[in-house]
Amino acid sequence: MNDLDQLVGAAQADFAATATPAELENAKARFLGKAGQVTELMKGLAALPVEEKKTRGAEINQTKQRIEALLTERRQALADAELQAQLKAEALDVTLPGRQRGTGGLHPVSRSLERIEAIFGSMGFDVADGPEIEEDWFNFTALNTPADHPARSMHDTFYVDTTAPDGGGHLLRTHTSPMQVRYAVQHVKKHAARIAAGEAMPEIRVIAPGRTYRVDSDATHSPMFHQCEGLWIGENVSFKDLKSVFTDFFRNFFESDDLTIRFRPSFFPFTEPSAEVDIAFASGPLKGRWLEVAGSGQVHPNVVRNFGLDPERYIGFAFGMGPDRLTMLRYGVNDLRLFFDGDLRFLSQFK
Ligand code: PHE
Repeated sequence: MNDLDQLVGAAQADFAATATPAELENAKARFLGKAGQVTELMKGLAALPVEEKKTRGAEINQTKQRIEALLTERRQALADAELQAQLKAEALDVTLPGRQRGTGGLHPVSRSLERIEAIFGSMGFDVADGPEIEEDWFNFTALNTPADHPARSMHDTFYVDTTAPDGGGHLLRTHTSPMQVRYAVQHVKKHAARIAAGEAMPEIRVIAPGRTYRVDSDATHSPMFHQCEGLWIGENVSFKDLKSVFTDFFRNFFESDDLTIRFRPSFFPFTEPSAEVDIAFASGPLKGRWLEVAGSGQVHPNVVRNFGLDPERYIGFAFGMGPDRLTMLRYGVNDLRLFFDGDLRFLSQFK
């Protein structure tokens, strides 16, 4: 074996000993770099006689090419090894147990709303939905609420604008009662032909749950809260029906037959007479305490007229209850704000 073959052998061994592309580049420099062994051999040619220079020069060139070929081969091998290692590291282990997605849950107030809709639905009530940004007409005027009523003040109501052409602007609805008017007007329109012919109109029986807004915030009041409106209008609907509907509803909602209902005289501009509704449990932690759960009353003749109906013929009741309050009672929660803070430590308890 001559010195050139030995050099190729040495290069092959050095290249094979490298584990990374950087190490390989260092090894390459030892042979092919500026001060590398092949380069040194080339420099040595200058001292040789012309004939020898030719053959020796050709041999050195061949040597250089052989080393370059070895280098390319090793580069490829290292790149392949790196790819294999990466594939192995990223390999999917299909035998691992799957990761679970977090399962969400219904908000406790949404649960109450679903219960309310199901119970009233079973009593033949339709469920209606309406805008949260409401017109002054539906929120106040159509509900017989005069211009100087305190509920209309800026202290109580979030106004969106106060410059509408009719003098009353838009506001965040302060209660769900505007839905009485919106729903009844649609109902009357739908049955206009029958009404015009003097035939009896099918009864209006509806609930309208949703968000409402007032300038108010403490442990039992939140600026955004929920209400559920109810309206039942027909030719012969009385307080007796209201009491039986409420009794059925609350007994179902709280899954308790030991529950009594009382009406306490009150005032609302859109009902006459009006009553607050209280309930009391005969057992359990709240035993014997009267709890206010709704406002109600016989719909005022002016409001019936705004529905587009004759108050001499059509009569009925309306109520507005607080699903947030009902949820607090059902689950024994004492601060309303907890429902709207969005803290999962609280909310996940209701899953
Ligand atoms: N809208 C009334 C309130 O927010 C409740 C109510 C509704 C009272 C319907 C009577 C009839 O306080």
